[in-house]
Amino acid sequence: MNELTIRRPDDWHLHLRDGAMLKGVLPFSAAHFARAIIMPNLVPPVVTVADAQSYRARILDSLPDGVDFEPLMTLYLTEATSPDDVAAGHESGLIKAVKLYPAGATTNSDSGVKSIDRVMPVLERMAAMGLPLCVHGEVTDASVDIFDREAVFIERVLAPLRERVPDLKIVMEHVTTKDGVDYVASAERNLAATITTHHLIINRNAILAGGIRPHYYCLPVAKRETHRQALRAAATSGDRRFFLGTDSAPHVDPSKECGCGCAGIFTAINTLSCLAHVFEEERALDRLEAFTSLNGPAYYGLPVNSATVTLKRLPEPIRLPGKIDTGAGPVTVFDPMFALHWQVC
Ligand code: NCD
Ligand code: ZN
Repeated sequence: MNELTIRRPDDWHLHLRDGAMLKGVLPFSAAHFARAIIMPNLVPPVVTVADAQSYRARILDSLPDGVDFEPLMTLYLTEATSPDDVAAGHESGLIKAVKLYPAGATTNSDSGVKSIDRVMPVLERMAAMGLPLCVHGEVTDASVDIFDREAVFIERVLAPLRERVPDLKIVMEHVTTKDGVDYVASAERNLAATITTHHLIINRNAILAGGIRPHYYCLPVAKRETHRQALRAAATSGDRRFFLGTDSAPHVDPSKECGCGCAGIFTAINTLSCLAHVFEEERALDRLEAFTSLNGPAYYGLPVNSATVTLKRLPEPIRLPGKIDTGAGPVTVFDPMFALHWQVC
């Protein structure tokens, strides 16, 4: 197969940042994706409906002329979040999900949740309204090995939470382990997972073998090969519980190439080309559309996009920038370490 037309994809987990960085990266997502779930971990975070309203306006202002793109706004859950504010945001149609960051788990998560007990009133209200909770599924306990933090989160936090609020619709964001995939696949209702492009392509060797490579460092950190294989099987299975969330998370190069580099990989530019390559390798190109364009809207209860995109497999490798210049500084693009042949037309 050398040509594939699919419904226009959506990105169910995207970091657009703000200001000059937002202006620099947004055109790349908007070129390929119709909608995206916009992560709220700005500094300061997007915690109230008013914050989300003004962030949405800044995103729309930063769009190139004539480009259609719908930012699906989220709220950053804190222990002070008001259930009434969340409910009003949902009822107005602005807020499509609430994001739970365990405090300290990742970039800009200091105002996250320390105790689930303190956010129960919000979670119960969300369950009653059918508003999804997006979860960064890693414990922050310093005594837990970083490669085990997702598996331990499932056992200590996610499973008890699902028992406590069974009607709460949850998305396990950027699942990175076989444990996570198996847990989601075993759930009968109210649980789905996003999978990133890069976790389908790299394992932890990319970060550490032969030298330390900060542009492959993200959170949750890439795991060993068996986990990558499990993620590939889930993504290409067609199972409606798994869909694309790129977690494209730009940081300027000086913030990554230093003594304590930030977590985050920028994939907005080449995600679809990378995914077509992965699905072709797995002989599952006929299931790419389910992963990028159908399963996500079905879980979020939104219509699928009516527009389409066509991917063409060119005989020669396609050319994409290895780095982009944003007004905030240079940002390195994810290098999949293989030549890309699939071009988005
Ligand atoms: C994200 C970021 O930079 O905001 N980083 C990352 O490694 N994925 C935060 C996140 O989604 O964990
Ligand atoms: Zn993220």
